Amino acid sequence: EAASLKPGLSFSPITSVAADQDAFTVPKGFRWDPIIRWGDPLFRNSPAFDPSKPSAKAQALQFGYNNDYLDIIETNGRGTEALLVCNHEYTNRAIMFPPTETAEAEAEVLRTLKAAHGFAVVELERRRRGDVWSYVQGAPLNRRITADTPFRFTGPAAGSDLLKTQDDEHGALALGTFGNCSGGTTPWGTVLSGEENFNGYFKADPAARGSKRYGLTNAASTYGWEKIDPRFDATAAGYANEPHRFGWIVEIDPTDPRSTPVKHTAMGRMKHEGANIRVDGDGTVVAYMGDDEKFDYLYKFVAKNKFRKGDSKAARKHNKQLLDEGDLYVAKFTGEAQDDNANLGSGQWIPLTKNGASVVDGFTLEEVLVFTREAADAVKATPMDRCEDVQPDPKTGKLYVVCTNNDARGTTGKPATDAANPRAVNKNGHIIEITERRGRADATKFTWDLFMVCGDEGQAGTYFGGWDGPVAPISCPDNIAFDSAGNLWIATDGQPSSIDRNDALFRVPLHGRERGHLVQFLAVPVEAETCGPVVHDQDGSVFVAVQHPGEDGSWATQNSYFPDYVKAGAKPGKGDWRGPRPAVVQVTRK
Ligand code: FEO
Ligand code: CA
Ligand code: CA
Ligand code: CA
Repeated sequence: EAASLKPGLSFSPITSVAADQDAFTVPKGFRWDPIIRWGDPLFRNSPAFDPSKPSAKAQALQFGYNNDYLDIIETNGRGTEALLVCNHEYTNRAIMFPPTETAEAEAEVLRTLKAAHGFAVVELERRRRGDVWSYVQGAPLNRRITADTPFRFTGPAAGSDLLKTQDDEHGALALGTFGNCSGGTTPWGTVLSGEENFNGYFKADPAARGSKRYGLTNAASTYGWEKIDPRFDATAAGYANEPHRFGWIVEIDPTDPRSTPVKHTAMGRMKHEGANIRVDGDGTVVAYMGDDEKFDYLYKFVAKNKFRKGDSKAARKHNKQLLDEGDLYVAKFTGEAQDDNANLGSGQWIPLTKNGASVVDGFTLEEVLVFTREAADAVKATPMDRCEDVQPDPKTGKLYVVCTNNDARGTTGKPATDAANPRAVNKNGHIIEITERRGRADATKFTWDLFMVCGDEGQAGTYFGGWDGPVAPISCPDNIAFDSAGNLWIATDGQPSSIDRNDALFRVPLHGRERGHLVQFLAVPVEAETCGPVVHDQDGSVFVAVQHPGEDGSWATQNSYFPDYVKAGAKPGKGDWRGPRPAVVQVTRK
């Protein structure tokens, strides 16, 4: 295996950056450039960015806030045109806009925040391969999807009574997407994204089915949209099912700005981190998915129909329906602890649905799909330490399951440690490597090993794929990517609170003598999370989304000035923005 490895991107690793540094740090000889920032105008008629005057209309025509999933999809052979596709997960009112004095003014802020959620598709251009990309204002494929854009339900729960509201008596069309965390670009050119922390957007009846298991309460919602849009108060008549219309995998076709994006009910409802596709040699299509909550589960969806190769209109249409029909499974792990946490074991995918029917006692098919967590509880799946990105290695088909952390593991009344989740009060997270039986994507059995048990250097219980030498300290792994040489890249979310370093991007070989030799490539600014990442190593470029820089600040006292920094230290004046702007950054060689 090692012999087939190409070198990948060559760089001198950086050392970790203290948690209070408002700096974007790259290796010597590299530069970083923001490609696009919150508020940048996307269309010809987009107003200029001006956070002193919140405007929902303006925001819907501008780049949104807080990107998590990111891809840069080249669209011509010369590598001079591309589509940037990313989601806009959530907003932070306190640092985005000034305090208001009237309810009317605050209502416009709330409408603006709603418009800052969703998705963006943006055309990029550059003169030659290896250059820094620029985005093209007014390009034909540019698109904003917001919390009000119509999405069509697909799959067995579409049209179900569980999805009906007074605005949608057919249970067919939901408005908007929000809380979108990670995702995956499909082999057929669409983008999948997981609706994750949707519960924070609703006021709901705590006694309603699913409320407890999905974290819905009758307190005022985190985001306050129920004050401007009645559907976010699920205790109001006609809206009891509105929360059921979120928590899905959504699919967006970035090449068709007029297409209606979809929500796939066959893939279940949970706090979906994301979904990543693997296509087997015979065209079998599966999607791997994590539910990012302490003690929630790892899932696999096996599509009923096979992938059709080629770029024809018929093939595209066929492939865009692959996730409408199939079987949903949840993972159960067994194994025993080994020395040094080099744990391994076996596991099985337990079916929740089979051939279009429920296989969970006491659950109808629609109930399995809408209350998936409850169905997975019933079959006794293995409670995990918060599955974030779950991604198959495109070269080997092995699956990497990133468990970000779980500080409740092994505490009173909570599940104990097990071989696959080996640490009590797991503050630093770990990564599991799964090999499907006979390498088949649709296998129902697998073997697994711990690839990495994260932490600060020398800390007891850490394990780095068998590597004995020094490694970069790492905590709270979240998003991952693979490079052309078969290395794994790991982005983190939460290092400041666990190991007192800024979040970062790392590279680690999966094969050969250096398996487990983790080095650090970049660090993001204060209070930011490293998202994306996208690694085009053969092009000499790495892309990350810098999410929630300076998130603990306020309008009056900002903690970050990323990415422009020009106004650092200046007094805020009229139209004089001084504060952080979440942005997509390209890192290239100088
Ligand atoms: Fe939005 Fe699971 O991190
Ligand atoms: Ca995030
Ligand atoms: Ca995440
Ligand atoms: Ca996270």
